[in-house]
Amino acid sequence: MTETLDIKITKTTQSRLAETDFNKLPFGRTFSDHMLVADYQDGEWKNFEILPYGPIAMSPAISALHYGQSFFEGLKAYKFDDGRVSIFRPDANAARFNTSAERLCMPQLPEEMFIQSLMTLVDIDRNWVPAKDNHSLYIRPFMFATDPFLGVTPSQTYKFVVITGPTGPYFSKPLRVKFETHFTRAAEGGFGYAKAAGNYGGAMLPARKAVEEGFDQLIWTDAKEHLYIEEMGSANAMFVIDGKLVTPSTRDSVLKGITRDTIIKLAHNWGMPVEERLVAVTEIVEAAQNGKLEDAFGAGTAAVVAPVGSVTYNGTEYTLSDPATRQFSQKVLSTLDAIRYGRAADPHGWNYVI
Ligand code: PLP
Ligand code: COI
Repeated sequence: MTETLDIKITKTTQSRLAETDFNKLPFGRTFSDHMLVADYQDGEWKNFEILPYGPIAMSPAISALHYGQSFFEGLKAYKFDDGRVSIFRPDANAARFNTSAERLCMPQLPEEMFIQSLMTLVDIDRNWVPAKDNHSLYIRPFMFATDPFLGVTPSQTYKFVVITGPTGPYFSKPLRVKFETHFTRAAEGGFGYAKAAGNYGGAMLPARKAVEEGFDQLIWTDAKEHLYIEEMGSANAMFVIDGKLVTPSTRDSVLKGITRDTIIKLAHNWGMPVEERLVAVTEIVEAAQNGKLEDAFGAGTAAVVAPVGSVTYNGTEYTLSDPATRQFSQKVLSTLDAIRYGRAADPHGWNYVI
């Protein structure tokens, strides 16, 4: 770290920790005692402050609300068996944070500011990091435009905010998914690769319709022909076909998932062939029919590894093998858990121990 960031710290006098039920932690509903807030003004980041979690006052005219100059990140902190707390790959999220910022015409946040903000905040709320398998502290950094101006032009001022909250498993059962062949999440030339708030708002209606049809999730296909797989809900789609790890290559319309990248690196370590390329829906359907689809899952921070139980294409459902018998995703999960809970060596330097 080049320079130590000056962060003003005001701790809460009324911690909510004692009244929080750590046995009941649905994703995204419980928030830790503190948050971090910083301002971008006059071309620089300033006023870094950690304060009790709570409302933020803002003008009703901010372009984040009207024109979507807003994006976020998602990552996790884990508690080691020895009590230490570690954030998983925050450097990768810091880099992607700036990729999103660039696409939305928003300012860069130096990586060391991002990482130090997260580490200081998580350190203060370290008792909120659950000490339990399949549990972690979800960290949600985000940035939004704050100029009180209705002109459609990039804001001059922004806020960087980090909130956190303890969480358990995101999905509890294998997912029944459909290939989406009408709606589109993102297109070439668009901003699907950014974690822009608007990408998620636009995905809600298609996701709700899929749920109404009895599915848990949908798999997005390309905007032009709806023939090639892009992503699975809010996770990257990964498959094992005939002993090879196959996943759609990242492009304008696909988020460059950090879990995806982590799993690809593990597969390389294990000497497994990895194919990042266009993946046709029909290829997955045929592999399922021929018994060659050995594994299929969504990979993401919140979802971790979410097994696909069945895929439906043009009204026909193909049921996949029992997730408990899938060698690859089981090995990924146990290896990742061992690293993230500090039980195994971390040769890639993924853990940022606080
Ligand atoms: N794709 C989308 C659209 C997402 O929202 C996410 C979640 O962050 C992912 C993929 C997976 O990315 P990561 O593994 O970095 O969390
Ligand atoms: C994440 O995995 O961090 C996500 O962003 C997914 C979702 C909760 C939006």
